[in-house]
Amino acid sequence: MTGRIDLRESGVPPAVSQPVVAKLTKAAIFLVATINPGRDNDVTVRQLCADLSGLLRAVGFRDLESRLSCVMGFGSDAWDRLFGAPRPKDLHPFREINGVHHAVATPGDILLHIRSTRMDICFEIAAQIVSRLGSAVTVIDEVHGFKYFDDRDLLGFVDGTENPVDQDAVDAAIIGDEDAPFAGGSYVITQKYLHDLARWNAKPVEEQERIIGRAKLSDIEQDDAVKASYAHNVLTNIEEDGRQLQIVRDNMPFGEIGKGEFGTYFIGYARSPRPIEQMLENMFVGLPAGNYDRLLDVSRAVTGTLFFVPSATFLDNVSADAVSPGSASDAPAPTPAAGDNDISRTPAAGGDGSLGIGSLKREG
Ligand code: HEM
Repeated sequence: MTGRIDLRESGVPPAVSQPVVAKLTKAAIFLVATINPGRDNDVTVRQLCADLSGLLRAVGFRDLESRLSCVMGFGSDAWDRLFGAPRPKDLHPFREINGVHHAVATPGDILLHIRSTRMDICFEIAAQIVSRLGSAVTVIDEVHGFKYFDDRDLLGFVDGTENPVDQDAVDAAIIGDEDAPFAGGSYVITQKYLHDLARWNAKPVEEQERIIGRAKLSDIEQDDAVKASYAHNVLTNIEEDGRQLQIVRDNMPFGEIGKGEFGTYFIGYARSPRPIEQMLENMFVGLPAGNYDRLLDVSRAVTGTLFFVPSATFLDNVSADAVSPGSASDAPAPTPAAGDNDISRTPAAGGDGSLGIGSLKREG
């Protein structure tokens, strides 16, 4: 993606978002890591923040067609540990849900969401990043995802159809002036689901279609008149003031056949965690309570994490030896807008042209 938003009118230089709204790809690697105790380890992680864009350029340039991208997110505790105040206003640990089914909360300080059309390119950048991080972190979950036929999940349904694109994706996922110091950032929730495929495949296709709310082969949405009240696309349809609140998903199938493991890695980005949390509430508790998502009878969430994704500009400006909270500029940010060709760029937060994280850098 190239091009910049014309900010001459606002006089504010652009903060570059991480590639949250990158186009869907054929391959992805999801790495969740915890930071090991010790100040040196924080330094190593901060070093990587600033080095990430360079690493991506180096690996990505080997095949520009492969559209390599990597999004780096931070859990609530890790944010305090690495960057201190100010903190993104809606950042908190993933909230577990005990409904008809259980949405577990699991540890995670760092998320790396790597996407490319080529798995070898994903693998290379993941290896480079983890080698930089060395003993500073422990990778606690690693999933290699692939696209399955025509963008289907392993349940056989096309997954991603109703995702917002272009400016709609930016509007759904990228923070604007509601949290000016963090404009250009995003929130991301991930859950790793394991499917009981034998049980799913034993269900008649008509029942599967009622659960998803779409036709299996054609992917056509069911008519509202016939849709079940518990259909996945009913329970995940959230409205506010008569407007649908959207999120940006990039789910990926994964599995290990020998282990009998077949899964979907759910990943959802939004400019606030609230819509995703509401969808989860509807799925796990039900709307009304008890009218839950039948997908969960065959799909078990074995992880649950929430991360904040700062802008790429923020990452580039992190210094390795940051020790104290920085003060973000409180100048208002203009409303995010897509550039002509570049849907990942939004205006910077600080009216002075900085993200206000310069104070993260130790003087002299
Ligand atoms: C086992 C895990 C999951 C599977 C296999 C799955 C699969 C699907 C499928 C097949 C669709 C229909 C096609 C589409 O529009 O993408 C869909 C739609 C959707 N899913 Fe999921 N999903 C899963 C988990 C989740 C979770 C955890 C959330 C949110 C917290 C979610 C949010 C949505 C949304 C917002 C839509 C679009 C609904 C619409 O507007 O029509 N999904 N999902």
